[in-house]
Amino acid sequence: MVHCAVDLQGVQYRYPNGYIAFDEVNLQVGLHERAVILGANGAGKSTLLSVISGVLEPTKGSIQILHQELTPKTKRKIRASVGLVFQEPDNQLFMPSIWEDVAFGPLNMGLSEEEVRHRVDEALEIVGIASLRDKPPHHLSVGEKKRAAIATVLAMRPKILILDEPTAHLDPKSRADFIKFLTKLHKQGDLTLITATHDVDSVPLLADRAYVLNKGRITARGTVASVFSDTKTLAKARLSPPTVARLFQQIPWLTDAQGSQPLPMSIREAVKILRQQRFR
Ligand SMILES: Nc1ncnc2c1ncn2[C@@H]1O[C@H](COP(=O)(O)OP(=O)(O)OP(=O)(O)O)[C@@H](O)[C@H]1O
Ligand SMILES: [Mg+2]
Repeated sequence: MVHCAVDLQGVQYRYPNGYIAFDEVNLQVGLHERAVILGANGAGKSTLLSVISGVLEPTKGSIQILHQELTPKTKRKIRASVGLVFQEPDNQLFMPSIWEDVAFGPLNMGLSEEEVRHRVDEALEIVGIASLRDKPPHHLSVGEKKRAAIATVLAMRPKILILDEPTAHLDPKSRADFIKFLTKLHKQGDLTLITATHDVDSVPLLADRAYVLNKGRITARGTVASVFSDTKTLAKARLSPPTVARLFQQIPWLTDAQGSQPLPMSIREAVKILRQQRFR
């Protein structure tokens, strides 16, 4: 890939107790692309995101971030371009107030007080929680905490935004709002977006390309639609296509007689197919 934001070649991570969380991972994410790592519980997604972000050092292979090799020497510089939003927002928020939590990163970057203030106010505004700035993190709902966790990362203006299980713990409305928010953020900014999830229904809305991680190995890759059409590989990885695609698979006359029409990945796509059928 010519304009690669992230390029992993033969990467392995072995935990200090000897457990190999993943091995032989080759993964390329283009600039401004939205990629998703799909995998069941324990597949190795969070560990992989920590390695991509430079939080954990790989035990084998090479990682290039924005065309720079990730090494102990370059780690600090590279980490400034990569923002990781943890699976649990409680792991990201530890200061007495949300404002101080968001200011923590920019202050550590050695920015001036004025610049820090500007970035914090801007980040809180972008995620829509400016009114919660003086609250302690434990007074926020999970959805609000997720937004705050994103703000802590956005204030550092990363070029690559990495989100671990972005839709976990959210109610349907909050989940839809959050996906809309991420879509807008990606469209507005100069961002590359990498997410990890097993929430298959949200994947077509969150990503363009998908990687399936099964017990630490990448077993499928491609566009979201092509990865979700390979039901066997998905099942082996304890995953399934989105609910709406499964419905169409169960009722073949909903797709065309030859089965050559692609399965819908979202309700919007399903409605389009059904409307076309009605007027055939
Ligand atoms: N500190 C550790 N030491 C040893 N093994 C670990 C450690 N942390 C995680 N693991 C193991 O590594 C594997 C991958 O864990 P990881 O958290 O990356 O999975 P995941 O795909 O993010 O799962 P989930 O969907 O539940 O978040 C799991 O089997 C886990 O038990
Ligand atoms: Mg995880």
